[in-house]
Amino acid sequence: MTRELRLRRPDDWHLHLRDGAALRAVLPFTSKRFARAIVMPNLAPPVTNTALALAYRERILSALPPGARFQPLMTLYLTDHTSGAEIEHAHASGAIFGCKLYPAGATTHSEAGVTDIARLEPALASMTALDLPLLVHGEVTDAQVDVFEREARFIDRVLAPLAERWPQLRIVFEHVTTRAAVEFVRSARPGIAATVTPQHLLHNRNALFAGGLRPHLYCLPVLKTEADRRALLEPLAGGDIRFFLGTDSAPHARAAKESACGCAGVFSSHAAIELYAEIFETESILPRLQGFASEYGADFYRLPRNQDEISLVREPWSPPASYPYDGGELVPLRAGEPIAWRLQSAPA
Ligand code: NCD
Ligand code: ZN
Repeated sequence: MTRELRLRRPDDWHLHLRDGAALRAVLPFTSKRFARAIVMPNLAPPVTNTALALAYRERILSALPPGARFQPLMTLYLTDHTSGAEIEHAHASGAIFGCKLYPAGATTHSEAGVTDIARLEPALASMTALDLPLLVHGEVTDAQVDVFEREARFIDRVLAPLAERWPQLRIVFEHVTTRAAVEFVRSARPGIAATVTPQHLLHNRNALFAGGLRPHLYCLPVLKTEADRRALLEPLAGGDIRFFLGTDSAPHARAAKESACGCAGVFSSHAAIELYAEIFETESILPRLQGFASEYGADFYRLPRNQDEISLVREPWSPPASYPYDGGELVPLRAGEPIAWRLQSAPA
């Protein structure tokens, strides 16, 4: 059995870092493991223009532990009013690597999101011209649609027509959770990729109700069936370059999760690459991990692959029951239970 795993240093292509004390609490976990991350713009208020994105980037850089080498790749939050000029400004800054489409009401801090895709025409035209990728939270928000069907309906109603309307636009279908999404991406035109989270690879929806309600496994899109989970593993096993690592690590204080109306989001930055290693080992596809974690995403974003390495050892450890978080507590994925791989060394 492999005892040590050396890996080109990975990147996280979908991450929520929050702000202020919360940012300071979670950022060191990511900067220790990952060289870069695509940083989600769903702050309150959201990061809807270049000035806000650049200021947020500075706050992230100031929150880094001394000596850390980590590059935040910023994103813009699209609204009904995002102009083509704003996209040009974002692109010219050199610090913004994608624009995020949150259907209004789909998830945490998405109230200011897009109400009708037709309103995005000026922004999408500009993004296409500048080759700035569109990052999509792929769920319809129609309350009539079953919560487990929202991703599949989004493909038919929004994503497929969008991909056809803008054939040159590069699109990342974020945190895919269903067989339908995997099939869509696999059969899509060039320029369409997807990120996959650890929780959707580890768990099916039964886990939400195992012995009682499990708020710390509640995220959006919600966990799906075992057949869907198996479907997510197929492109990873095949080394499909259209599927790459994006944790969607989304911290919320314990009190906000263990509540009558709990927030959606799973925190996984404390052990992200370790958990992916565990999954790939369980599936006997460990040799595929480096492409998924450290290469295909960089290639899609047209950024250089990292040249340094991290090393993991096969030595189980258990994360604590919680970490300190913004005056409260943060319950991490796999809290108090063993994870098969441990981070041994990382460059910074
Ligand atoms: C994210 C958050 O909390 O910001 N939550 C989640 O469940 N994934 C938002 C999102 O990515 O949907
Ligand atoms: Zn997210």
